Amino acid sequence: MNPEFAPFEYKTLVNGKDTIVGSDVKLAQAIADELGVKLELSPMSFDNVLSSLQTGKADIAISGISVTEERKKTFDFSDPYYKANNVLIIKNEQLNTFSSIKSLAGKTIAAQKGSVQESVIKDQIPDATLISLTSNGNMITELQAGTVDAVILEKPIAEGYIKNNPGLTLAKIELDSSDTDSYAVAFSKNNDILKKKINKVVKELVTSGKYATYVQEAYESNTSE
Ligand code: ARG
Repeated sequence: MNPEFAPFEYKTLVNGKDTIVGSDVKLAQAIADELGVKLELSPMSFDNVLSSLQTGKADIAISGISVTEERKKTFDFSDPYYKANNVLIIKNEQLNTFSSIKSLAGKTIAAQKGSVQESVIKDQIPDATLISLTSNGNMITELQAGTVDAVILEKPIAEGYIKNNPGLTLAKIELDSSDTDSYAVAFSKNNDILKKKINKVVKELVTSGKYATYVQEAYESNTSE
């Protein structure tokens, strides 16, 4: 996972120790329990998360990963466990300036490297310049410094950054998220037993409402900037 994606996975101090927490960590633990194995989390940049399945560095990828037709060509996915829409974060004082797709022509928009949000910008705001950055935290720093005009993230993550950075807000611009909005667990193809077990856990956590509670709890306890 790429633990820079609160409330799903992020780093925080637990008893003075840097620890990866969040709703996806709870999901990962539940999957490990179902499989009867010890959970070992491997933090990496997001653009390495899916390829870590190909290199064998990881067996399962959980990182708020959106299921797409393109990714399905190479990887297998569980049933979806969450839905999240694309939003743009801007500075408060730009709320009336950046109020339409058109108003972003010639402006710079940061997206996380390897994320589906790169394609969302290319497809839906083609007149803006896409800046791909590895770290979500850096995207926010660049926005505050004024080196980029907007940042694209999915709503729960964006709301966390806004909560902890009062100078930032959500732009009133609608983006289409229909092809990218479902998060699922990723693993290598031809692994039907693994898929069955993961889907069993996903079903249990989603239908009981537990996963949604994990997201809410992690959202409330995240105070990192
Ligand atoms: N949902 C987006 C995607 O699949 C972004 C996921 C980023 N996750 C992360 N942990 N940084 O491309």
